[in-house]
Amino acid sequence: MKPLATIALTRPIFPDQSAALAQRCNLRQGKQTETYSESDLIALLQGADGVICTLRETISAAVLDACQTLKVVSNIAVGFNNIDAAACAARGVIVTNTPDVLTQTTADFAWALLMAAARRLPEAERYLRDGHWANWRLDQLAGKDIHGATLGIVGMGRIGGAIAARAAGFGMSVLYHNRSENADAGPARYVPQLSDLLKMADYVVLVVPYNEGTHHLLNAQTIAIMKPDAVLVNIARGGVVDDAALIAAMKCGHLHSAALDVFEGEPAFNPDFLTLPNVVLTPHIASSSVTTRRAMAQLAVNNCLTVLGGGEALNRVA
Ligand code: GLV
Repeated sequence: MKPLATIALTRPIFPDQSAALAQRCNLRQGKQTETYSESDLIALLQGADGVICTLRETISAAVLDACQTLKVVSNIAVGFNNIDAAACAARGVIVTNTPDVLTQTTADFAWALLMAAARRLPEAERYLRDGHWANWRLDQLAGKDIHGATLGIVGMGRIGGAIAARAAGFGMSVLYHNRSENADAGPARYVPQLSDLLKMADYVVLVVPYNEGTHHLLNAQTIAIMKPDAVLVNIARGGVVDDAALIAAMKCGHLHSAALDVFEGEPAFNPDFLTLPNVVLTPHIASSSVTTRRAMAQLAVNNCLTVLGGGEALNRVA
């Protein structure tokens, strides 16, 4: 890459990775900040050839228009709903993401959430830490069985498939709903109507990308279709679930429990979730193992450098 390109990195990656990147380009490092205002983001990106960003930064048409030197937007995430991909395509800006490297870790975490909700793990730990464990009771923190139950996966892509594969160890029946049947779904059974899957599944795991079609896919009506003692797991995106509708349903005793890694408006979230002991809450960390987060950052760096070096993006999505 000659002369050296300028790359804006919106948030710190692992220090050895940014040090290596700084050897290859003029690196502009953003801060570990809350949310970038549009003007702060533009100030960081103006004059840069590429940006390596996270799902917390909104790369809108207005940002692109203010930063016309950008040739590539490299997202450190598999989802890229934070980027106006159509606006990028219209301006000839390449968009890349980080698939595959996070599939297994994210599937592991979906299971961690599912099991935590089913077996009331956070509740049990709070109970012990708060000094309530004074006696033995037959029904103490009794949870819901996982083995032999029916798992419903909404969104059978790479991560959905990895979640389904793990279900075999629990002797579960697996259903999935997708826009179309997935030939790689193995023994999982395709259910063309979401409502049918919601009627049948004991565990519903959401893994769909977020877009207009999946906004509030789980809303008051669809949540009402779920079994009264079902468990809902959301590792997709905030906005796929209508959080207020979920809270309202759960306050009325509907659903066994829920486990949520993503929220509408995150990092803020509806404080009413805190009043529900049977909701497990985590701060969007499904892909967060050290190995995987390093691999994601490295892939994003490689995508950006490859495009700016004149090569084909490794993971182009627009
Ligand atoms: C995380 O949510 C991702 O899309 O990688």
